[in-house]
Amino acid sequence: MWDSIYYFVMVPMVYIAFGTLFGGILFKFIVVLRSPKIKGTLAVFPRGPVPKLGALRDSFFIPDAFRKDKVFWFFIIAFHAAFLLLIIGHLELVREFALFQIIPHYVFLGAGWVGVVLIASTLYFLFRRFKSPWREISVPEDYIILLLLFLAFIFGSHMNLASRYGIAGFDIPVQSYREYLSSFFTSTPHVSRGIIASPHYVIVVLHVFFANLFLMLFPFSKMVHSVFMFAAQFIKRK
Ligand code: HEM
Repeated sequence: MWDSIYYFVMVPMVYIAFGTLFGGILFKFIVVLRSPKIKGTLAVFPRGPVPKLGALRDSFFIPDAFRKDKVFWFFIIAFHAAFLLLIIGHLELVREFALFQIIPHYVFLGAGWVGVVLIASTLYFLFRRFKSPWREISVPEDYIILLLLFLAFIFGSHMNLASRYGIAGFDIPVQSYREYLSSFFTSTPHVSRGIIASPHYVIVVLHVFFANLFLMLFPFSKMVHSVFMFAAQFIKRK
């Protein structure tokens, strides 16, 4: 029975998760584009001298958050920088990209720090919502999505650190991950033998399980703001 559950999490559920993620984001775009136009302007005054550059600066450096709360700003920047490296790391688990190896590194990149930074920032965002006034404006989904992220990060980071420091069974070769992940783009998706044979296969399954849940919830959570960030910054300057 467990074999079937593990297979479901590792293969069909991954398709369901990515389908829900992309379908959900598309749905959100349609909702926004079809919503009634607001009379007047959403622009913020005074307008800066170069609106487009200002929009990019505000999206990447978030000066509003810096002015209000330096610790919060620090964790936002750390989280987003680490998340970018996380995406690159996972792409390299699918196949080799010469572009990412311009600075040569072992896969998974970041020497374990990517996971540690993400765990610390997620805990900060979670506990921040326990305090007033954020507590009053938080809904259950805000806590659930942070908890799912935390769990996906904990198991991912555990796998990465354990394999890096040579814990037996965690030394699943990158090639086995590549065989598994690249098989999603073929007609025979499967979990490679190298992963199934590991005594810690359950940790991989737990990581993928919580990651799948996160991906499915993302379009329906407040985190979807990241997708609309640039558009919102440009509207503020129209
Ligand atoms: C469903 C697809 C996913 C698969 C198959 C997958 C697989 C993996 C694997 C195999 C590793 C460890 C690599 C190693 O041992 O060196 C890993 C690491 C990690 N994953 Fe995932 N992952 C997935 C999605 C996600 C998602 C959606 C998140 C979070 C949003 C995530 C967060 C992490 C983190 C934080 C690490 C550790 C990075 C580090 O310590 O530097 N993963 N993942």
